[in-house]
Amino acid sequence: MRSINIGLLGFGTVGAGMVKILIENGPLIESRLGALLILKKIADLDITTDRGVAIQPDILTTDASEVLNDPEIDIVVELIGGYEPARSFVLQAIANGKHIVTANKALLAKHGNEIFAAAGKQGVEVAFEASVGGGIPLIHSIKEGLVANRVKMLFGILNGTANYILSKMTDEGTSFETALKRAQEKGYAEADPTFDVEGIDTAHKLAILMMLSFGIPINLDAVYTEGISKITPLDIEFIQQFGYRIKLLAIAKDTGDAVEARVHPTMIPAGSMLANVNGSFNALSITGDMAGDILLFGRGAGMMPTGSAVVSDLVDIGRNILYGAVGRVPAIGCQAGAVRDRRIKKIDDLETKYYFRFTAVDSPGVLSKIGGVLGAHRISIESVQQKGRVTSGSVPIVMITHKAREVDVQNALKEIDSLPVVQGETILIRIEGD
Ligand code: HSE
Repeated sequence: MRSINIGLLGFGTVGAGMVKILIENGPLIESRLGALLILKKIADLDITTDRGVAIQPDILTTDASEVLNDPEIDIVVELIGGYEPARSFVLQAIANGKHIVTANKALLAKHGNEIFAAAGKQGVEVAFEASVGGGIPLIHSIKEGLVANRVKMLFGILNGTANYILSKMTDEGTSFETALKRAQEKGYAEADPTFDVEGIDTAHKLAILMMLSFGIPINLDAVYTEGISKITPLDIEFIQQFGYRIKLLAIAKDTGDAVEARVHPTMIPAGSMLANVNGSFNALSITGDMAGDILLFGRGAGMMPTGSAVVSDLVDIGRNILYGAVGRVPAIGCQAGAVRDRRIKKIDDLETKYYFRFTAVDSPGVLSKIGGVLGAHRISIESVQQKGRVTSGSVPIVMITHKAREVDVQNALKEIDSLPVVQGETILIRIEGD
């Protein structure tokens, strides 16, 4: 049987998952591919820690060039994460004629245009199923299953850590810190967990999906990004009372004249499907102009789900090598010459419903002062709640608005937060799906 040789850069959680799958499901994968996938070399700075997987010790090296420059290696799997040295290694591997499999969404979101161009010139594949949605085949679904569609909308949960934290805070009253610690122990979180909690990881993933869905270059800077670190247990209590759940959502829409792209904590009706996607699970709703709405759901992070996505890319490339069909499915989803830049809307242009939590002095006339500013900025209130009196002298006042424009909301909140009766910054959460 023919062999396809693999070199691995970065032997962490996902790398160990990939190796475990290649061992445990080896015969099954070979029967589907029609070739052996041979792990020839693993490079990592740490080659002593036991990853719990059986490998020949002599395939381990601390020198990445042993992978990059080995003429027998067909596919380099980059699981180092981060920007450097991952970028240099990937470009070097491409220059050496090797195909690339990567789970590195940060790398692709920042340097993807450069990497895809280099791979295109060199005639090698870049596959990245594991970069978005862990074990859910989101990339294959968009590139192949939905190839006949113009994607009109992407709407979903793309970060397991943030979803795990919000689910634990909502359902078990766990503190933010404890939930984050648990997510880190389970291997969901990024090396720098601020990427998870500040929405950056979700934005990386959305930028990649937008490239595939809308045929545009990757443009991370245009994705409005806000994280979950300001969400308090008090907000979660109010959100539930209003009949919603809170999720860190990635939202992209093709509005015809432009593209909308944003990542932020979002209140969605408690009975909706996405509201019930909890823990480390991810889900992405894709609206195609022909297929309609599709919902893909599964484990968005972790060793085995992400390892499964890596192996699916190895098989894909392996099949193309075997059949002389390298480049059969373009890495970026469309032919390079068909990529078009589109205008990406500013968040100021958004029109949606909002939740506000004001912290205000508990005295007569306060509500009308706040209401007056909102009215002056064309913001209409749908409902209001004030929690009982508290001894500290300030009370939370919570409002849900009708649809309003973001620019008006931001201007109104600036004015409200400078009122002497308002103490502390107002919390704003956007609402979708009503
Ligand atoms: N840190 C990421 C998450 C890992 O929590 O979803 C998967 O990309």
